[in-house]
Amino acid sequence: MNAGQREAQKERAASAAVSLVESGMTLGLGSGSTFRYALNALARRIASGELCDIRAVPSSGATAKLAQAKGIPLLPLTADLLLDLTIDGADELDGDHRMIKGGGGALLREKLIAEASARLAIAVDGSKIVKQLGKYPLPVEVLPFGWERQQVFLAELGAEVSLRQDSQNRPYLTDNGNYILDCHFGAIAEPQTLAAAIKARTGIIEHGLFIDLATDVFVASQASVQSSQRGSKDAAQPLLPQS
Ligand code: A5P
Repeated sequence: MNAGQREAQKERAASAAVSLVESGMTLGLGSGSTFRYALNALARRIASGELCDIRAVPSSGATAKLAQAKGIPLLPLTADLLLDLTIDGADELDGDHRMIKGGGGALLREKLIAEASARLAIAVDGSKIVKQLGKYPLPVEVLPFGWERQQVFLAELGAEVSLRQDSQNRPYLTDNGNYILDCHFGAIAEPQTLAAAIKARTGIIEHGLFIDLATDVFVASQASVQSSQRGSKDAAQPLLPQS
């Protein structure tokens, strides 16, 4: 698949996810290049009058700016707010709707919003589908204070760990002022066990394993967009990696 085909797939998967949006919904807005296509599709549906009364919580400063530019009213993530639907992308997605996210560094707020949502719709191009998670390095957000201790801890769990850097070779800072450690685990045999081990560590803020969160996934191929819902008997066709 070339770059143009991949972008076309992202756009089609994102538009399919946006078809779940109904007037009056409060949305969670993801981050990343696939999500940007979703935001464009959403803005088009609002501009055409097909959707009204949409409000949203953004998962990153970058998404907040884009949504504001499109005139979408934004809300803070308050205690009593239940989001109807969050739309986002992913870096890897397996057949059980488990994901690696955070390639863009927004994993903490993405997970907070996903957990506050009744539904989480994930849109991906076919290259993101894997049999086993882990080829894509797992992003882990850590407190800058003592971060090297987390590097050692993650290496002891089996990863090759690198501190993410920005374009000027300084440590990359998340919207929350934290660092990201990119952890190359290779195939992750037990994502749930790994997630629990990482989560329990003081100084680690959050990891990019998203398990039991995605309710609806939209996977584009060259020919079509395949959707599946978690728990749905109609989720007949397994999600298979594209060769
Ligand atoms: C942002 O932090 C990520 O979780 C993105 O959702 C993920 O990296 C997918 O991004 P792309 O759609 O740009 O591949």
